[in-house]
Amino acid sequence: MKESQFLNQIVRSLLAGQLKAAADPHRPRWHLAAPVGLLNDPNGFIEHDGRYHLFYQWNPLGCEHRNKGWGHVTSTDLLHWQHEPVALLPTEAYESHGCYSGSAVSDEQGRLTLIYTGNVKYPDGSRTAYQCLARADGEGGFAKLGPVLDLPAGYSGHVRDPKAWHDGRRWLMVLGARTLDDRGEVLLYRGDTLDAWTLVGPIAGSGRGGLGEFGYMWECPDLFPLGDRHVLISCPQGIAPQGEDYRNLYQCGWLVGDFDGTHFAHGAFHELDRGFEFYAPQTTQDSQGRRLLFGWLGLPEENEISQPTLEHGWIHQMSCPRELFWQDEWLCQRPVAELGALKGEQTRFEGAPDELPALAIDSAWLDLVLCGEGRLGFGAVVELVWQPGRLVLRRQNWQSGEWEARSAPWLGGKITVLCDRSSLECFVDGGRQSLSTRYFPGENPVLSARCGGDGSKICLDHWPLATCLVQ
Ligand code: FRU
Repeated sequence: MKESQFLNQIVRSLLAGQLKAAADPHRPRWHLAAPVGLLNDPNGFIEHDGRYHLFYQWNPLGCEHRNKGWGHVTSTDLLHWQHEPVALLPTEAYESHGCYSGSAVSDEQGRLTLIYTGNVKYPDGSRTAYQCLARADGEGGFAKLGPVLDLPAGYSGHVRDPKAWHDGRRWLMVLGARTLDDRGEVLLYRGDTLDAWTLVGPIAGSGRGGLGEFGYMWECPDLFPLGDRHVLISCPQGIAPQGEDYRNLYQCGWLVGDFDGTHFAHGAFHELDRGFEFYAPQTTQDSQGRRLLFGWLGLPEENEISQPTLEHGWIHQMSCPRELFWQDEWLCQRPVAELGALKGEQTRFEGAPDELPALAIDSAWLDLVLCGEGRLGFGAVVELVWQPGRLVLRRQNWQSGEWEARSAPWLGGKITVLCDRSSLECFVDGGRQSLSTRYFPGENPVLSARCGGDGSKICLDHWPLATCLVQ
């Protein structure tokens, strides 16, 4: 589609749909969601010239995985976001089936530059991918510079999601890839400039690097230093469930290791979030030295068909902004400190679960210390079951009506739960594990609790969270 046609259709889609989407009782009060249409991966997360920029995979014309371009919002505090002109639309032949995920860098001249995947599908079902550049045009938009990298030999058309950075000497980039014999890998590239890349080789994946058979495709890789180690986050596809692990259709996890600019010597794969919806996260380091992360509270092809927001013309949202940190050599996550500014009046409860007052959880922050065993109900459709050593998140699936469970090991430490209308993010043991889910509890849901035996007790701090919409 030509750009002018595309823009006209977006205007029509926004005019017809924005009020309806905003009036949805499931619409988040402070999480990021697209004004209309489908949002998926966070892209191009960067702090540049004093503002945080976050881009996102966006179908502005509907709630299906089509027409993918990049929406763009900016903020100075990670809370109050402002819409910017749409950054990328798939108008060129080299991106005919989507401007897919990628990252943002400040180039040698300090110009905000996007590197993304041009996804191309052919009528016979085959596909190819180009890694492409676009540069800030000084007027809020981005000028496309075209493809800078074709497919490497031995790989399928599934090579995408460039995450690029400058290490002080040269450009580096990781790409998610699927080999011709269906192994998922993360490829490392090096470049003296952003438009001249050389393949160094795979640095992690299935069948190499000690993980054994580990999926047919790895999406959305992100390699970064944290303290004196490096972390690789990526999303492998094609891993079978093993006990309580890998229960979602696709996985999202981290590897810790040492990176020398060529090799990444790493340990085992750990799930980054053990809930139902969390995928394709992206990180950046901000000017305070923090490693920040946004994830997509969704999963490709899962539970999208009857999601209640569809009748309001929108689907999916981001996670809360999170900060990564080490604790006992384990990668932990916490909501960024800025979120504290949304907290209203505190209520404290300490006692038997059955005596818990019905606190409003439409938009709330809960800090919990839980003893013994018991259950916390979030409306009627989600339960958090605490038992020695394990925390179980149960929900009634909106598509199948069945109850299903995900769980995380629990050392008995503090639990923080952030509720925002149709999402719930749970940080276990001060952030050693997280469990995130969408849920549709209806209007004005309340918290309830049941004790599961002698010694069952709750200490709860509750704060309502203020509304903070994208302007
Ligand atoms: C992950 C993903 C990426 C791709 C994008 C397309 O959710 O499949 O690999 O670039 O979504 O929207």
